[in-house]
Amino acid sequence: MKKLTMTLAAAAVCAAAASAQPQLRPDNIDEVLAAMSLEEKAVLLVGGGNRTFGAGENGIIGSTDNMVPGAAGTTVSIPRLGIPATVLTDGPAGVRISPTRKNDEHTYYATGFPVGTALASTWNTELVEEVGRAMGNEVLEYGCDVLLAPGMNIHRSPLCGRNFEYYSEDPVVTGFIAAAFVNGIQSNGVGTSLKHYAANSQETNRMEVDEIVGPRAMREIYLKGFEIAVKDAKPWTVMSSYNRLNGPYTQEDRDLLTTVLRDEWGFDGIVMSDWTGPRHTDAQVHAGNDLMEPGFAAQAEEIVAKVKSGELSEADVDTSVRRMLQYLVKTPHYKGYKYSNTPDLKAHAAVTRQSATEGMVLLKNEDHTLPLKGVNEIALFGITSYDFIAGGTGSGDVNKPYVVDLMEGLDNAGLKVTDDMKNMYVAYRTFKEAEGAANHSSQGWGKAMLPELAVSRRAIDHQAEIADIAVLTLGRQAGEGHDRLIDNDFNLSAVERQLLDDVADAFHARGKRVVVIINTGAVIETASWKNKADAILLAWQPGQEGGNSVADVLTGKENPSGKLTMTWPMSAIDHPSSLNFPIGVSGSKDFFGRRHDVKNYDYTLHSEGINVGYRYFDTAGKEVSYPFGYGLSYTTFAYSKPTVKATKDGFEATVTVTNTGSVAGKDAVQLYVTAPASDIEKPARELKAFAKTRKLAPGESQTLTFRVDNYSLASYHESNHSWVADKGVYNVQFGASVADLRAAAKYTLGNTLTWETNDIFHPSREL
Ligand code: BGC
Repeated sequence: MKKLTMTLAAAAVCAAAASAQPQLRPDNIDEVLAAMSLEEKAVLLVGGGNRTFGAGENGIIGSTDNMVPGAAGTTVSIPRLGIPATVLTDGPAGVRISPTRKNDEHTYYATGFPVGTALASTWNTELVEEVGRAMGNEVLEYGCDVLLAPGMNIHRSPLCGRNFEYYSEDPVVTGFIAAAFVNGIQSNGVGTSLKHYAANSQETNRMEVDEIVGPRAMREIYLKGFEIAVKDAKPWTVMSSYNRLNGPYTQEDRDLLTTVLRDEWGFDGIVMSDWTGPRHTDAQVHAGNDLMEPGFAAQAEEIVAKVKSGELSEADVDTSVRRMLQYLVKTPHYKGYKYSNTPDLKAHAAVTRQSATEGMVLLKNEDHTLPLKGVNEIALFGITSYDFIAGGTGSGDVNKPYVVDLMEGLDNAGLKVTDDMKNMYVAYRTFKEAEGAANHSSQGWGKAMLPELAVSRRAIDHQAEIADIAVLTLGRQAGEGHDRLIDNDFNLSAVERQLLDDVADAFHARGKRVVVIINTGAVIETASWKNKADAILLAWQPGQEGGNSVADVLTGKENPSGKLTMTWPMSAIDHPSSLNFPIGVSGSKDFFGRRHDVKNYDYTLHSEGINVGYRYFDTAGKEVSYPFGYGLSYTTFAYSKPTVKATKDGFEATVTVTNTGSVAGKDAVQLYVTAPASDIEKPARELKAFAKTRKLAPGESQTLTFRVDNYSLASYHESNHSWVADKGVYNVQFGASVADLRAAAKYTLGNTLTWETNDIFHPSREL
């Protein structure tokens, strides 16, 4: 630190003496670059350290505390050249900064928006863009320059601990939802960071694990979403992941960061590393990882030393520095934006309340149990009802001003919760919190979920006597650094099972209904117990207004129109990936830190290839609990006969959706394509596009238009490392889910089309 600071100062003095100092402008980037010393270039490529790593000790210059306390990281300033420092902040569900500051009475809470899975389940790109606009406004008004989001990794396994931050098992949903989110955020003149690039499929040993993935799965599943978002939305930055990929760290992988991202897709922003310590900084720079975050003095020193020794070319350094300068001139800090620190939190609370309802998925609704009718008193069960989970843990958590729990939400909606349950659960919560149960999270850092409370059968029977209906919430928490477990996490715990059994038994015996609310960021087991509930509403982790959002759906103020963006399997191990996923695997390094080459810890084989999610279940005809794309509504929809017309580079399809029920609602229509026979295996069908109607009144219709180009019909052929769209007839299907296809038409491609790519991503172990 000292050495580098002195070198920098000396360089600045020499340069100052030698010439007038250009000040950074969008049109003089090369001039500024030419005026920079090697040391200055090196520090610009290394972040300013952050609080986690001890700002000022490991960091190089400054820290987020000097700028925006609690933000994830900074880039450094070089005042003599008019280069400002900028601020990078998490994360996908809102701006993650410290809510309070030393000697400052003002608070800095940020809106806790719905998590990634909830947003994606809206299937509504306009709405996601609107959420992005609101969130981006908070980025800007809290003095930040880049939001470290969206999270775009694929739900390869339902057990990945960060699935709540990500969107889907499908790259097309992931790509288009991410593009909408990026467009919304960036409309504020701040940046985004697509993360974690790429194949960051597990949390277990995430900093070291070598994800072994073949070229086809890489291209079709793990990269496709990033490709769509890069091309559609021009994000300012991309975050390279922690893990290795077929050998090297992604951060040191030039094929990934330059050949594919820039040369093939045309990305022109910066790549920053995920928040790790020094690795091979020269390899990172050469690969095209322009910015090392959070930033350590040793990294800048290494850049200087490696250039001097000839192991790193100064041309590579200049390429990254030029990109950094191009990034900097776009930022609010460069433009001197006077941020207010007072974003309109009230207006944004309304955005999160409404958007959360649209992502909620009605899984079951026997005999129109919902919306609630003639209900005076509700017996509200489940600790989560009283301690609602707004979002996941880790860097994806947000310091939000409040969380509306379900008890409060029902109360706000004028629905009465029985006093007995209210008193019992609130006392339990208070007791557990005082005990510190919420502070020790095994579900990632952040507030832990409280253990479920066992309620006596006598108490439940009494509730069934006095209340009109039972509402029971099942909650789950997960987050960064941990994958989920099957027992007591994916599966219900014994206490939850007993509670559900007793509640169903007691209420059904008296002819009363049971509604289950699932308050989770990711998939849980439902097959074994769904028959016990009359209605099931998947509320996700719906943000700080959660209880109000759920109440809006329960009362029918809002009609749920969310649909699943991932398969809900019968069991946790039904996904082919479960053969190669860390289920119960723990540390593999011995006392001396030697590596053991343990499967699913030190390396993970993606042997299932492209058989991820519905591509597997649908093709194999394997039973699921709820299929990809599934979700009910309080109304019903019919689809017309579709049209498919060839365009100059693909086809345009239309289908008219009519609300055939008795209340207003929206529907998400999914366009799947079955490709003609080819010399490689194809899934039974793949999602290629989707669209959502506006709110249709009963009897009202809307014609939806879908555009699909031939390139997106192509599959990746490893034999000639090319995307190939085979000639022949494509069956275009319009579905309410992948298992509920309601209309179809044909598209014929006269000639086989081929797009050649670079021959890369060879698995480093046999799959
Ligand atoms: C996470 C990133 C996050 C970064 C900064 C990392 O540990 O993986 O998603 O943006 O920290 O907080």
